[in-house]
Amino acid sequence: MSMQIRTFEEYKAVYQRSVEDPEGFWAEQAGSFNWRKPWDKVLDWNFRDLDVKWFIGGKLNITENCLDRHLAERGDQTAIIFEPNDPNGETTTYTYRQLYEEVCKTANALHAMGVRKGDRICFYMPMIPQLAIGVLACARIGAIHSVVFAGFSASSLSDRIKDASCKMVICSDYNRRGAKNIPVKAIVDEAVAMGCDSVETVFVHQNTGEAINWVEGRDKWWHEQVDHQQPECPAEEMDSEDMLFILYTSGSTGKPKGVVHSCGGYMVYTCYSFANVFQYQPGDIYWCTADIGWITGHSYIVYGPLLAGATTVMFEGVPTYPDAGRFWQIVEKLKVNQFYTAPTAIRALMAFGDDPVNKYDLSSIKLLGTVGEPINEEAWEWYHKVVGKEKCPIVDTWWQTETGGIMISGLGGLSPMKPSFAGYPLPGIQPCLLDGNGKEIDGNNVEGVLCMKYPWPSMIRTTYGDHERCRQTYFSSYDNMYFTGDGARRDENGMYRIIGRIDDVINVSGHRMGTAEVENAINEHPKVVESAVVGYPHDIKGQGIYAYVITLEPVNDLEGFRKELLAVVTREIGPIAKPDKIQVVSGLPKTRSGKIMRRILRKVASGETDSLGDISTLLNPEVVEEIKDGAL
Ligand code: WT7
Repeated sequence: MSMQIRTFEEYKAVYQRSVEDPEGFWAEQAGSFNWRKPWDKVLDWNFRDLDVKWFIGGKLNITENCLDRHLAERGDQTAIIFEPNDPNGETTTYTYRQLYEEVCKTANALHAMGVRKGDRICFYMPMIPQLAIGVLACARIGAIHSVVFAGFSASSLSDRIKDASCKMVICSDYNRRGAKNIPVKAIVDEAVAMGCDSVETVFVHQNTGEAINWVEGRDKWWHEQVDHQQPECPAEEMDSEDMLFILYTSGSTGKPKGVVHSCGGYMVYTCYSFANVFQYQPGDIYWCTADIGWITGHSYIVYGPLLAGATTVMFEGVPTYPDAGRFWQIVEKLKVNQFYTAPTAIRALMAFGDDPVNKYDLSSIKLLGTVGEPINEEAWEWYHKVVGKEKCPIVDTWWQTETGGIMISGLGGLSPMKPSFAGYPLPGIQPCLLDGNGKEIDGNNVEGVLCMKYPWPSMIRTTYGDHERCRQTYFSSYDNMYFTGDGARRDENGMYRIIGRIDDVINVSGHRMGTAEVENAINEHPKVVESAVVGYPHDIKGQGIYAYVITLEPVNDLEGFRKELLAVVTREIGPIAKPDKIQVVSGLPKTRSGKIMRRILRKVASGETDSLGDISTLLNPEVVEEIKDGAL
């Protein structure tokens, strides 16, 4: 278990040390893991050419640290508690030994099907233990996992399979989500048919047992391949900098990019941050409600907790099925000690009032966490009062797919708490705020662009297949800095408050979306000439999606057209990208050089039409009146 800080005074001292002697500090943290061969050098880094390496020359396998390392001491302790979608279904558990054996069997099956070190394996699965087992099985034999959230469309899935030339897709037959069963295998078939020539095997876990289409030779059943395997599997020796996984995320331009994380640094940082932020104690039951399709699930359902020897909960369902009390029913049933969720879920449940919460005994909870988007004060207060009964600290954890782990956050109840403030950086993390000229803003009570001026072990190494894109996106905006894309404020005590994205990325219910991506999807509709998408404040989702659309000819049946557009976006990206509001316009406000003035569109979408600023320099100022009049 990583070193745990136990007081705020200690945090300050450790932080100081981590900045003065980062290499010594991280070497100490890394020392608590099993390395096949120790590293020769802690760190080499160069942000300008983007070349960052941690624990250089070190050899390890992350699953030996998640599993084997725990067998002697806690082989019989529960590693994973699985809570199914059906509230009357059976809760199942895996001890560390059982998980170890399942992972080994699955790794042997993958190996028998020809999977080797360095191969890319795509997952499109529900939140069931086999997803965690499959991911760990890949890591066991050095295959690179690429988990795609199962809410994405066949087309999005296909793009991701192709980008990483995945050799295998692992899926279930059907996914259970609330009252629905989703035909996941059929979606995979459709995706693979869109030119995924690299796919040799579709590996199917039987989840509901309903009928599916079968491609002889290509498709293999999980149980037929796994059940007879030996429960031991030698772990592949990995270099510290070998790729562990790819996870796709949206940016302000183009298609989603494959964020790459590597073995050694990711292991050290996810474990360290898990142990400290959640102040996990042996025997605690920890529950993160995220999906493993996102980075939160990778780092804080699977890797961080298992590295730390924790008991981690996996929930298959949704917060409102069968009713808005589901989360709290599970907390009571499993006696959850740390509960980690997203502001959008808190706001959605808050809308049902206090009764669904008060029906259950939540006295086991010691700590609450939030992640994914800024939390508004009202939601923070409700979470604190109604869920936490004013006795549980809240950690507001700021981080990103690219950072691999939590960067700015309170540590359990040790740190001062302030609603809607993430707080202080974790040890080893060196944030700064920059002004419009890229100059660092010193002192407190200031606001600027949030950057990192020093590397940390779990940081992004590259974007899959396109290193230059990674350098451009994150390391070229400001010299010698990692650019987060967020704006932030530092208060009089040096605590950070994340304001939100300053690029063309919107955050809808904690899901990250590029406005260009949604526009490209909308533009696929044959009647659309051009579109512009912006975010606007939304009570539950945080941000909603507002689309301005220019059509080839006037639209008579607006409702019908709207439905068609939603269908196109659902087909191209998935239901999470559906615009909340669609306004048909005759033109978009543009500068003389032809650039869309998104600032104006954002203001109109937010209902701030009184403060549009100077529009006289526009190419087509007349269109602004029309857009204002037609605003939804
Ligand atoms: C973006 C990253 C990393 C977990 C899930 C999201 C926003 C994330 C917070 C927070 C305010 C937050 C930022 C960030 N964000 N956590 N606690 N407070 N904003 O990962 O999809 O990579 O999105 O989410 O804007 O840049 P992601």
